[in-house]
Amino acid sequence: MTLAKLKTEFTREFGSGGRLHVIRAPGRVNLIGEHTDYNEGFVFPMAIEPQIFFVCRPRTDGKVVVKSSLFPGSTAEMSLSGRITKGEPKWSNYVRGPIALLLAKGVPLVGMDCLIINTLPMGGGLSSSAAMEVGTVRAMLTLAGESMDESALAQLCQKAEHDFADVPCGIMDQTIVVSGKADHAMLLDCRDLSRRFVPLDKDELTVVVTNSMVKHELSGGEYAERRQQCEEAVRYFGKTDPAIRALRDVTREQLETGRTGLSDVVFRRARHVVGENERCLKFAECLTSRRYEQAGQLMLQSHESLRDDYEVSVPEIDFLVQTAMNLKGVYGSRMTGGGFGGCTVSLVQPRFVESFVQEIRQAYQSRFRIEAVVFATHATDGAGVLE
Ligand code: GLA
Repeated sequence: MTLAKLKTEFTREFGSGGRLHVIRAPGRVNLIGEHTDYNEGFVFPMAIEPQIFFVCRPRTDGKVVVKSSLFPGSTAEMSLSGRITKGEPKWSNYVRGPIALLLAKGVPLVGMDCLIINTLPMGGGLSSSAAMEVGTVRAMLTLAGESMDESALAQLCQKAEHDFADVPCGIMDQTIVVSGKADHAMLLDCRDLSRRFVPLDKDELTVVVTNSMVKHELSGGEYAERRQQCEEAVRYFGKTDPAIRALRDVTREQLETGRTGLSDVVFRRARHVVGENERCLKFAECLTSRRYEQAGQLMLQSHESLRDDYEVSVPEIDFLVQTAMNLKGVYGSRMTGGGFGGCTVSLVQPRFVESFVQEIRQAYQSRFRIEAVVFATHATDGAGVLE
């Protein structure tokens, strides 16, 4: 979408006048390292082309008025001088949260009119919520002429997700949405937030996202339950070795010795996390040394572990992964994000992308009677100011 078109849309909603700014915040896909972020482990996401635009201009009366192209006719309004709390419409909580936390931090803000325009679907497992939060902060900071350290920005948005969207998420989504780098995936250590960017060679690899269109609702309690099970495992391991602060610290040997002391479910949750951290690090090495076949196998193992040990997959997603693995030119495929629907991510040789897209859509349609949305994407930069 061009800047001119975005501004025309804004003017249609809010009228003309004032200096307009345009901010973008991308979605993300995680290549590997799932449900490891809140265990202080490793993740390997990249920012993707579908994104959210925030077209905005300052107001002098301290009010924030926000509209979304996805929810025509509903407007969110709040005042910077009052207390900002959760409220209606529901989507506005992704705006309310970050603004409330910026105010609580003492950042001097100014009022804003803002139109939000998406090419990123909401609730599809591609971190639309993180993109909403990060874009909101970027927009507010831009209008106020303020800036913020990238990790602090990601952490503020993570807190907004906890407090205003009731999802006790880790730090992966907000970090990659803030700090993604074009043509690279990010190997992020979620303990100290250190990161290494690994190039994705466009001539050799294409990342393809397949949206199952099965609804994914992380505030449903399943996510929080997984976190609690991980914490339970940490308490157990911590008794024998006080140096263990998170599942990140548990070795394979400790895991096996602990088997008898844990319930079957908690043991399997821990086994997923320990294995997934190893796979994530190996995967980054494989990409660096162009061992794509091996990288693909790690993706498949990750999926199986999420399906069997972590139990966050669904039959539609399992089918998409299975189907992808049988198509020509596919190195690997797995569920991506929190689970319970959402998307799969596949690594495909560029010349097979077209047939991949066609065949996976067809197979899914005839098995489930659902139109999957399938697209190839390059890695993009994190959120930024376009104008
Ligand atoms: C969601 C959360 C992330 C992460 C993933 C699972 O996307 O927002 O913090 O935990 O699930 O890897």
